[in-house]
Amino acid sequence: MKILGFMGSPRIKGLNGKLIDSVLKGAESKGAEIKRYDLIKCNIEYCRGCFRCVHENHKLPIGKCTINDDMTDILEEYHKADGYIFATPVYGVYVTALMKTFLERKFPLFYREKGESEKIPDARVPADFKKKASMIVTGNASDEYEEVMGDPCFDAFEMDFMMEQVDTVDKLYVGWAGNLSNDRLMEKLDEASKIGMRLVDNIEKAHNGN
Ligand SMILES: Cc1cc2nc3c(=O)[nH]c(=O)nc-3n(C[C@H](O)[C@H](O)[C@H](O)COP(=O)(O)O)c2cc1C
Repeated sequence: MKILGFMGSPRIKGLNGKLIDSVLKGAESKGAEIKRYDLIKCNIEYCRGCFRCVHENHKLPIGKCTINDDMTDILEEYHKADGYIFATPVYGVYVTALMKTFLERKFPLFYREKGESEKIPDARVPADFKKKASMIVTGNASDEYEEVMGDPCFDAFEMDFMMEQVDTVDKLYVGWAGNLSNDRLMEKLDEASKIGMRLVDNIEKAHNGN
């Protein structure tokens, strides 16, 4: 079983880096193979909006993007993985530009007939809710602001997961990011590790038909 982590903060050793490591270590402790992508280190250009990935080559599991950058290999690996963990800081009440660029470039996973632009695209290979995902969002705003700060980010992830037929397991908003006590950090890292373990448990259950 393979679980991929995508980390959308430019600060590799920041809070999101620590939290995603904890999730991945939790998953590894349950036997999963893990890999962390720091989006800041990846060469991922902006989507150019040509729609060729989504309109052409319908029989391919991944559409062909006209841009030749790290997304080609990332999507191959994404397609084969069993589970995902996405982590992003809130920037301007939304996911970071790094994360948004990555989400837009997942468009080759979908197809839609040309001329049916009003329809939501279908997954090329629907995961049938056997693949699972969890998500982490951090913000300086306190936990009471989760709805305002966290939910728009969770929605951005979940819209894609819904279209891919990937099931969401856990969502964690960590507020007070700019002023986090060590005790609270430890508590959240522990929560993150459990999220990783639960992700593996849920994937195993799906594989066993439960
Ligand atoms: C440009 C920018 C915009 C931000 N906007 C918000 C915001 O809208 N809401 C919020 O709660 N925190 C905001 N923050 C604080 C970040 O969410 C915080 O620095 C981040 O969660 C820390 O995570 P990291 O250590 O992984 O980078 C912003 C930070 C930056 C740099």
